[in-house]
Formats: sequence, structure tokens, C-alpha cells
Amino acid sequence: MVGVTGGIAAYKAVGVIRGFVLAGHDVHVVATDAALRFVGKPTLEAISRNIVHTDLYEGVAAVRHVAIGQAADLVVVAPATANTIAKLAAGLADDLLGNTVLATTAPLVIAPAMHTEMWHNAATAANIATLRARGVTIVGPASGQLTGSDSGVGRLAEPEQIVREALAVAVPQDLAGRRILVTAGGTREAIDPVRFIGNRSSGLQGASLAAAALSRGATVTLIAANIEVAAPAGATLVTVGSTAELAEAVASHAKLADVIIMAAAVADYRPRDVADGKIKKENQGDGLTLELVKNPDILAGLGHGRHGDEIVVGFAAETETDDAALLALGRQKITRKGADYLVLNRVGWTEGFTQAHNTVLMLDKAGDIVMEASGSKLSVAHRILDTLA
Ligand code: C5P
Repeated sequence: MVGVTGGIAAYKAVGVIRGFVLAGHDVHVVATDAALRFVGKPTLEAISRNIVHTDLYEGVAAVRHVAIGQAADLVVVAPATANTIAKLAAGLADDLLGNTVLATTAPLVIAPAMHTEMWHNAATAANIATLRARGVTIVGPASGQLTGSDSGVGRLAEPEQIVREALAVAVPQDLAGRRILVTAGGTREAIDPVRFIGNRSSGLQGASLAAAALSRGATVTLIAANIEVAAPAGATLVTVGSTAELAEAVASHAKLADVIIMAAAVADYRPRDVADGKIKKENQGDGLTLELVKNPDILAGLGHGRHGDEIVVGFAAETETDDAALLALGRQKITRKGADYLVLNRVGWTEGFTQAHNTVLMLDKAGDIVMEASGSKLSVAHRILDTLA
């Protein structure tokens, strides 16, 4: 949950909210009336992708003044004005934000923004000390140009810093120092300059793995093959198109990785010949035959050709409907690929690919089920990383 209060820096709250959203989080905004004088509700709704809450007396039947705080994993107030800081220190609940903060057990992070004199005022200093003593994390304020021509302490910390420090509070840094390579998306094999053979992978599960690993402190390289989602900020992004390009990118980054997660849907076959010009139906008969040749299996190459004690994780997306048969396929695959873990999920016209949710189970080398998860692709990503951590 992001609380936005009424200072000129409220326009920068948009960048903070966007940072959380791009990192894969579900962001709910509670804005004070004063905040909405500085930044429009439609902007906050568009950027957060959720309805913005302001009024204490709306949605009373849903007990919203408590519900928002209870549901939050993290509460960030940015910007926090001197007035809001005083209210939070006193535990006041005369608006929706005050109620939400009192009702939450999630970590609280506040990013103050005000004029230098107000920041140095003894009342504000005492309120900040009170909040710190209660375990609240204070990000900033920075020093620099203020609203007018003057400058000094009191500027809102940069949105990237607020997002980074807030996520570090909420999420255990159990992957700090680990180098994680993730592949995401689906490879495309050219038929001619305008056509390809591809698959329906959106790259959301892989991008969510990268986002989750980043938020847990890992250094992440994301090799993205035609992904339809945003790559998380903070990852080293390598974009590829075909399986050959993916193989080359993996080969050059795998040696530096402690963990390699092959979430990409890799084309098993490619056209033997790629036409230089567009294949014209006028030059063909009623049918067109494409000859396909097998692509190298990148995962099997990593699984059977180790460079050290890296952990290799494969994915298996299967249309098999029978649970026992699906599990049997997974067990055969992990052995064939030489991976340490295999994340198995069912795909179909309406399952897996392009969906926001995923249902997976994770097998270890022995073929035992070590984890089962169902939920948003970000929550599934965290469960996979819990197992690896
Ligand atoms: O054999 P299958 O395509 O079902 O295996 C899926 C797993 O193997 C995924 O982790 C995928 O990234 C990887 N794979 C690969 N190279 C291929 C085919 C699949 O690395 N040519």
C-alpha cells in the first residue's frame, strides 16, 4: 500500500508507485484529500492499476478502513508531510490513511518531504524520533533544490531509492550476493523475413522470477526472448529472438551464475532454410511444406555440462491432463535434462501461457515433489526462490 499525502512532492509519488508496479507488486493507493490537490486520482489509478482510496466513509460495508491495512504486506507513505508525520506519531485516525496505518501489522516506511525549517523544527524531529523508535523506516529526506528557489534538506528522496529501501524492508534479503540468470519468454524461429514459428509464452513467469530475485537482494541477468511484459528495473537485460541467440546469450552468461532458471519456452525445431525474401503463395501450390530441424537443448547442455556447483532449474509446460501422467513426464524430463530442479505446470488454451496466475509443482533430482504453489506468477516466483534459497 502506498499512502500519498499533500505536499508538492506528491507528483513524485507517481514514480514511486510505478517503481513498485514495475517490480511486479500489486499496489493499492490511499491518498489524502490534500494529496489529490497536487496529483490527480486518474493518474494514481492508471499508474497503480487499482482504484485509489481517499474517503473514510466510502465502502464502509467492506470495513475498508481496516481491510486495506490488513491486506498490505508493506505500507509506504511517500511523500509524508510534516502534518502526516505528526499524525502518525500521535496515532491519529481522522482520515483513511491514519486508519490504514493503525490497522496494519506490515512494516511501515515513510519518505518525508517538506521545507528545511519544518524538517528541523523540534516538533518534527521529536515525531521522527518517535516513529524511528517504533521501528518505522525513514527514507530521506534528501538535500537539494526545494520547491522555490531555495535549497536545503527536505527534498523527497528519489523514487528509485524509496522503492529499493522499502522493498529491502519488506522482503528478506536471503539472496544477497547470489548471481541469478533467468531466461523468459518464447523463442521465434524465422521462416522468412516476415514470418516465424513461435509460442504463446508471454514471459510473465520469468520476469516475475527476475523481479522476485532482485527484491531478495540477488544480482539478476534476464535473458528475454520476445517478452510481452516489462522487464524489472535493476536486472541486466539481454534481449534475444531465436533459440540460437538465446543459446549464445546463455553460454556467455551462465559461467558467472550461481543459479540458472530456464523459464523460457524454447522452440524445439527451426526451419532448415530461412527464405531470403517473403515466401509468396503465388509461387507455391495449394500446400506449403516447411522442413524443420532440431534445435540444441540448452537446458540439457547446462544440466550435463557443469562449470561448478551452480543450481540449474528447468521448466516443463505440458498439456497432459492426468496428474499421475504429468508427474511421470516431469520425472523423465528432469533426468533427461540433468537439472537440479524442474518446475512443472500444465498449459492449455486457457491455462499457463498468457495467464496472470500459475499452478506449479517443483521436482528435485530424485523426482520427489519439493514444493507446490498456486497463485499470481509473482507469488509462485517467490515460492520457487524459497525452495532454492
Ligand atoms: O523439453 P522441453 O521443451 O519440454 O523442456 C523445457 C525446458 O527445457 C525449459 O526449461 C526450457 O527452457 C528448456 N529448453 C531448452 N532448450 C530447448 C528446449 C527446451 O533449454 N531446445
